[in-house]
Amino acid sequence: MVLILGIETSCDETGIAIVEDGSRIVSEKLKSSVDLQAEYGGVVPELASRVHVEYVNILIKEALDEAGLTMTEIDAVAVANGPGLVGALLVGTMVAKTIGLVEKKKLIAVNHLEGHIFSSFLSLEKKDEKLQVSRIKNQVNEEKLFRKKDKIMFFPMMVLIVSGGHTELVLMEDYGVYKILGSTIDDAAGEAFDKAAKILGLPYPGGPSIAQSAVQVSSIKDQGSSNEEINLPRPMLNSKDYNFSFSGLKTALLYKITNDKLQITNEKIRNMLAWEFQEAVCDVLAKKTKRAMEDLGVKRLAVVGGVAANQRLREKLHETIDDEIAIPEFKYCTDNGVKIATAGYYKYRVGNFIDWQDLEVKSNWSL
Ligand code: KG4
Ligand code: ZN
Repeated sequence: MVLILGIETSCDETGIAIVEDGSRIVSEKLKSSVDLQAEYGGVVPELASRVHVEYVNILIKEALDEAGLTMTEIDAVAVANGPGLVGALLVGTMVAKTIGLVEKKKLIAVNHLEGHIFSSFLSLEKKDEKLQVSRIKNQVNEEKLFRKKDKIMFFPMMVLIVSGGHTELVLMEDYGVYKILGSTIDDAAGEAFDKAAKILGLPYPGGPSIAQSAVQVSSIKDQGSSNEEINLPRPMLNSKDYNFSFSGLKTALLYKITNDKLQITNEKIRNMLAWEFQEAVCDVLAKKTKRAMEDLGVKRLAVVGGVAANQRLREKLHETIDDEIAIPEFKYCTDNGVKIATAGYYKYRVGNFIDWQDLEVKSNWSL
């Protein structure tokens, strides 16, 4: 049994979790500064760092207490040391370094994006009972069996990462083996939601508030009585590559409002705009992902990151793609400590540790 303590402080969530063998959540703690950030209409990096400083040690203590464990019983500490906001990352990284030095714990550096990818493994493993059973029955031979099974079960796997800072289509060939097929050339999908929400006068974070506004339209559409006038472009839908672009879509939304003199204070109009914006983002994400899977003959998809919490995106992916799709539970789409501990476990298994002296923040770390 391997117990990993995961630390996440890349942006505006302080996430701490203790996970056993990469799949059983022993305890988890999360403090979000999103409500504070909302007052400023977006993430204020300094504010995020201060909240991390205030809560990180408290949450570690709470997570250990809740699990009935002491630090001595923890096998390794996994920390997201990049990519993200420098000051925010620094908090988790310094805490991990300190635990490494003082408690002589093994440390594991986890790429925040890799953490998102592994959040989908939580649902994959839960879904596949056979895999669970064989792991329990064959504990002695677990390592061999697990890897063999994983190969068959999981890889190659297409991964769509859609978060506030990233939009990437990645081919995962094995643990830690990633081929980036495409990414956004400007705004990330979550960033686009956040900016569009601002244009529409909706609160931060924009993803959930646009989704909430758009859902009012869904029922009208279901009744077949929708106003079809508002059309936004589907940027780069037909481009030959697997890249995305969302900055122009946000501008198109702004032009639509100003050119057509649309009143965003009118709830119905605002809902229609939110609906169409969400449709445009989800259409492009679902259709381009499908094309990449077809082109490469990949039959399994994981969708991760904050935007994966979008219900309409989930529907569209299932409508568009027939293959198996793994999407984490809503609460594991956004940032948390569980995904860092889970990703850390797979590094633990291959002895991928880092000395506390060498652990440093890598704010632009790519996969
Ligand atoms: O993964 P995450 O928590 O942080 C980053 O790593 O960036 O993602 C946050 C992003 C925000 O841009 C937020 O607006 C978006 O995820 N988001 C959503 C939804 N929930 C969060 N976007 C669309 N629909 C949602 N339901
Ligand atoms: Zn994230």
